[in-house]
Amino acid sequence: MRQFAGAVALCMVILSGLSCQSEEEIKRERYITEGILVYKNNCANCHQNKGEGLAALYPPIAGSDFLADKNAVICLIRYGQQGPIFVNGKPYNRVMPAQPQLSNLEVAELATYIYNEWGRETKVTDVKTVAPILEKCKK
Ligand code: HEC
Repeated sequence: MRQFAGAVALCMVILSGLSCQSEEEIKRERYITEGILVYKNNCANCHQNKGEGLAALYPPIAGSDFLADKNAVICLIRYGQQGPIFVNGKPYNRVMPAQPQLSNLEVAELATYIYNEWGRETKVTDVKTVAPILEKCKK
């Protein structure tokens, strides 16, 4: 009897563990799906659908070494970027317009999409993580 109870308890631990994991997975998929749409509507014009960029005009996001600084990426999505920068050793010096219409959630969805698709991450960049970062670099 005691053994049986033990087995049931163990099962419950395993099951609840599994359901936790899949909730996180569902959230990641939701963020990515939304992120793709936000990207297509606000970013793909310049950076192109596959994030490959456009010649010397718009830098690539796919494989970009700039992704190493995630806070900077989060900030430039909302507030834009100008002045000379290097991406994978190539110089760019144009204006990326600010996108103040993007909500904190949309910035988080974009960051999740970008880092899962092009930055080798397999996790959510949560809206709760993004909010204080945006607050700090507010312009
Ligand atoms: C009007 C064109 C344009 C749009 C729209 C645009 N960008 Fe940019 N983006 C640029 C330019 C130009 C730069 C380089 C700015 C510079 O030279 O300082 C840049 C730089 C970047 C960088 C840093 C460098 C790199 O390539 O890794 C990231 C990341 C980025 N943009 C992401 C986005 C995202 C996400 C969106 C959509 C919310 C977006 N951009 C919309 C033109 C654009």
